[in-house]
Amino acid sequence: MSGLERQAVRGIGYGGDYNPEQWPEATWAEDIGLMAEAGVNLVTVGVFSWSRLQAAPGELTADWLDRVLDLLAAAGIAVDLGTGTASPPPWLVTAHPEILPVTVDGRRLAAGGRQHYCPSAPAFRAAAVELADRMARRYAGHPAVTMWHVGNEYGCHVPACYCDRSAEAFREWLRARYGEPGALNEAWGGAVWSQDYTSWDQVQPPRTAPTYANPAQQLDFARFSSGELLACYRGERAAIAAHDPGTPVTTNFMGLSRVVDQFRWAADVDVTSVDSYPDPADPEAHLFSAMNCDLTRSVGGGRPWMLMEQAPNAVNWRAVNVPKAPGQYRALSLQAVARGGDAVLSFQWRAAATGAEKFHSGMLPHAGTDSRVWREVTGLGADLGRLAPVAGRLVPAEAAILHDWESWWALEMDSHPSRLRLGELLREFYRPLFESGVTADFAHPESDLSGYRLVLVPALYLVSDAGADNVGRFAAAGGTVAVSFFSGIVDTSDRIRLGGYPAPWRDLLGLRVEEFAPLPEGATVRLDGAPETDQDRAGRVWQDVIDLRGADPVLRYAEGHLAGQAAVTRHPYGRGEAFYLGTLPDPATLRGLVRLACDRAGIEFRTDLPPGVEAVRRGDQLFVISHLDRPVELDLGGKSRDLLTSDIVGPAVVLGPRGVLVLAARD
Ligand code: GAL
Ligand code: ZN
Repeated sequence: MSGLERQAVRGIGYGGDYNPEQWPEATWAEDIGLMAEAGVNLVTVGVFSWSRLQAAPGELTADWLDRVLDLLAAAGIAVDLGTGTASPPPWLVTAHPEILPVTVDGRRLAAGGRQHYCPSAPAFRAAAVELADRMARRYAGHPAVTMWHVGNEYGCHVPACYCDRSAEAFREWLRARYGEPGALNEAWGGAVWSQDYTSWDQVQPPRTAPTYANPAQQLDFARFSSGELLACYRGERAAIAAHDPGTPVTTNFMGLSRVVDQFRWAADVDVTSVDSYPDPADPEAHLFSAMNCDLTRSVGGGRPWMLMEQAPNAVNWRAVNVPKAPGQYRALSLQAVARGGDAVLSFQWRAAATGAEKFHSGMLPHAGTDSRVWREVTGLGADLGRLAPVAGRLVPAEAAILHDWESWWALEMDSHPSRLRLGELLREFYRPLFESGVTADFAHPESDLSGYRLVLVPALYLVSDAGADNVGRFAAAGGTVAVSFFSGIVDTSDRIRLGGYPAPWRDLLGLRVEEFAPLPEGATVRLDGAPETDQDRAGRVWQDVIDLRGADPVLRYAEGHLAGQAAVTRHPYGRGEAFYLGTLPDPATLRGLVRLACDRAGIEFRTDLPPGVEAVRRGDQLFVISHLDRPVELDLGGKSRDLLTSDIVGPAVVLGPRGVLVLAARD
């Protein structure tokens, strides 16, 4: 620490990516003055600065960064310092063209964008680790540097590389996993389509083939690719630790994104952080962002996490980039705090004037400070200042949604009964919990579930023996489980678990699925069952042909070939209970079922929250957030002090458009 006092972030961190190298030095003082005005206390610097940090192999050309960091330190603004390795500079690509990644169909990608590297390329890895090492040596103990930010959104543009060097590394990885080709043939089903390998050099990545590439090979390649990116991260992390062991290290995950297995990375990430870009054109943008929050908290084992990036207003990378509605930046930022975030950062501080992202919003927009965005930015800074007592506090969750990246990869492969998209299914199951104030974690199937009362299992297509047993034990011990169609279908080699689906959970569920009958796209099937309702109930997406073996039907198909047969069931198991959903019920029916499961589990399922209003507890506070663009009346059930305004509010209150209350929680 060289005797200097480290800049600590007190309370909730607030700020964004700061790219001063894109601006004349004369603007820096203005930046820092405006940061102070907005309440910014944490900025991320240097993430894409490689060409300005090293003009050639060797010494750093970082005098500019010294000055930036000193200015920030003097202003009391902490820095999340990038290692700068996410975009290799032209000199490195020219010297080592082999670091350029190759796509699944054999095209070598060019430089000129960013993230143009093969994660297995030795020249890239060496250069990145060397840069991280030089950065850590130079800035370890700098008073501004509060944390390190390795790489950027690993796998965002290039989730996997199919070049010959990657092929070689893949073979090494397979050799370590299987020992000899015979075992690989066994795991991959080599007898199908004449794919038995007799030596390692015959094995390739799953490149574009005339038809479906071997799914088990694809699954292993996804595991391998996540692991190669993790190895890049670890290399830089180790270089940092050698010089600056006490400072936390992060890399920004992408929330509900398929690319890397965040649970596998978690142990190497000191503070979990996420980039969350809900589409303002999506009426459920707040649901998507809430899922990103809960997932990130879960990946970090429940500890406080950081919203590393969001857009203060519009992004530039959708076909149409709708701005955030007035108040939406605030509401979604406070949602992140409510769900356990200890920092709210944006991409980026000052909207760029040049380059590919010049139409991406910034906290300081092109229009300057006389603007809606700037007023919202300063307003949020003040709000976050008032939320300091919440920092470090935990978010209790009684429900969990099982989630596994390996299963996700396997689920979304081709040649399946139907084209299922996990992101959509997770949203379906998350929605009723969100709307009724039930906070859920995303839990790995093999993780300790004993702290939960309810576990939802949406389309967990692949499950290990250990994961399958874990769910059964949870129910036997008194937990409530709700399993959806197309769960427990294959083992970790994507091999069907035989004897009727879902083989590992037939006893738990008291049934056997004899065959699948997916519904044509957009089609529905009427459902009925007790209690009768006025509303029509329908199944979507999927139908299982269910053979009851002890389970009681809750809903039955009311039309089609399966009319009269069970569609949704429940089954007591040990001290708990297991529900099964052989179809995707319409949202209202699904909500009713989740409510039933919550009742059974002893979880409070609130029915008083208007749609679009979320309630979530963090520490001693209850956050009530409206995502509606009109005022809404709420009954708070009593009087309470709002931490944001210090006003006493309730029991009746009118919450303005996208209004937020932070109340004392009741037990
Ligand atoms: C993220 C990335 C940032 C910025 C942002 C724009 O994916 O990490 O550097 O490009 O998108 O939305
Ligand atoms: Zn490669």
